[in-house]
Amino acid sequence: MDRIRIRGGAPLRGKIAIGGAKNAALPLMVASLLTEGTLRLSNVPDLVDIKTMLDILVAHGAHAEVAPDGTASGGRTISMRADNITSTTAEYDLVRKMRASVLVLGPLVARFGEAKVSLPGGCAIGTRPVNLHLAGMQALGAEIVIEDGYIHAKAPKGLKGGIVRFPTVSVGATEDLLMAATLAKGETVLENAACEPEIVDLAKLLIAMGADIEGAGSSRIVVRGKAKLNGTQHKVVADRIEAGTYAIAAAITGGALEITGAGVELMGAVVESLVNAGVDVALARDSMKVSANGAVHAVDVSTAPFPGFPTDMQAQMMALMTVAQGAAVITETIFENRFMHVPELARMGADITVKGNTAIVRGVKALKGAPVMATDLRASVSLVLAGLCAQGETVVSRVYHLDRGYQSVDKKLAACGADIERVPG
Ligand code: UD1
Repeated sequence: MDRIRIRGGAPLRGKIAIGGAKNAALPLMVASLLTEGTLRLSNVPDLVDIKTMLDILVAHGAHAEVAPDGTASGGRTISMRADNITSTTAEYDLVRKMRASVLVLGPLVARFGEAKVSLPGGCAIGTRPVNLHLAGMQALGAEIVIEDGYIHAKAPKGLKGGIVRFPTVSVGATEDLLMAATLAKGETVLENAACEPEIVDLAKLLIAMGADIEGAGSSRIVVRGKAKLNGTQHKVVADRIEAGTYAIAAAITGGALEITGAGVELMGAVVESLVNAGVDVALARDSMKVSANGAVHAVDVSTAPFPGFPTDMQAQMMALMTVAQGAAVITETIFENRFMHVPELARMGADITVKGNTAIVRGVKALKGAPVMATDLRASVSLVLAGLCAQGETVVSRVYHLDRGYQSVDKKLAACGADIERVPG
């Protein structure tokens, strides 16, 4: 297994191009199951999770072609065509690799009247049930039976529009039901829907495919079902989490980075926290300059659904707070077990006390390099960030977590002056 070796201390300077959002691209790819037309997505990041989603779609019988799209971030264009679906089963071996695979449920039942999708199981950051997806599908008339670890869903006469009120905000369940509702008969109302930019991007694509959707980006989405959708082309929205991660890389090293191709209007809560911490952030239309000349101050952060501070930025912010002046309180409200990076940061000299879903981070003068490993994507990148400012050498193992969500992270950082290399294992 590959590792990443970092010798910390170099302030980063230069430009980093941000790619398309993994969390947008995954549901956009699944939307190809809603039509027999060709769906062409550009600005798709080259990541392991994208490859896993392609494997899932191909296993259903879809055709897919991948080519470089010529963007500065090294994105891809993916053309998908689901005109000859041969299987409506999503096997455990593929679904267990990535929870987002469960998103095929809604589109398959909506178009083919049935689906058999493996339950994804837990993951490092919590139990992560799929009950909201199932209750939503039942509200649209699907019959659901759980047997042998699989969700068996049926709607032989097609789905029917209905009211789906989510008891908690779920990005995945909102996406699943939004896709399903586009082919259901009549009107569907999604209440307490997630408002994330990735949902807005999905709605834009679905509308271009012929769907009738109002309110995406608000907590109430109304969908009037259509008998058929068509193929189209679409450019994946920028990855606000990748952009936020590199903003923290600039701040934690006391450097200056220009982050390009980033949807800065989507980054309000992260930018606000950085500014409150004393980091200089200059926003332009689709780029931002982030620099930190003086000390970074402690700021409290509590994760929340969009437009709140994203849970996917919590570990990176914590890394920054380990070397800030003062004490920061970081509260995780979305997932019950998302502090897996804490013991690893502590091995690098961080002073963190965890009580329930709250971490108190007391800034130290400097972190010290150490061998570390992490159990999920954002936790792994927080260790890379810590390594960039730590004294001496940090070796981050289990790099496959990073490969799920950060394209060429080592190369992008090295090009801006980081002493970082990938060591094949
Ligand atoms: C998505 C993102 C992930 C991000 C998360 C929250 C993708 C591919 N992944 O994950 O990076 O961290 O949103 O912003 O887009 N829940 C239930 N029942 C369900 C579904 C969810 O109880 O049926 C709970 C979850 O356990 C969690 C909360 O709802 O506590 C939010 O999860 P959700 O928004 O669904 O996360 P994902 O869509 O899986």
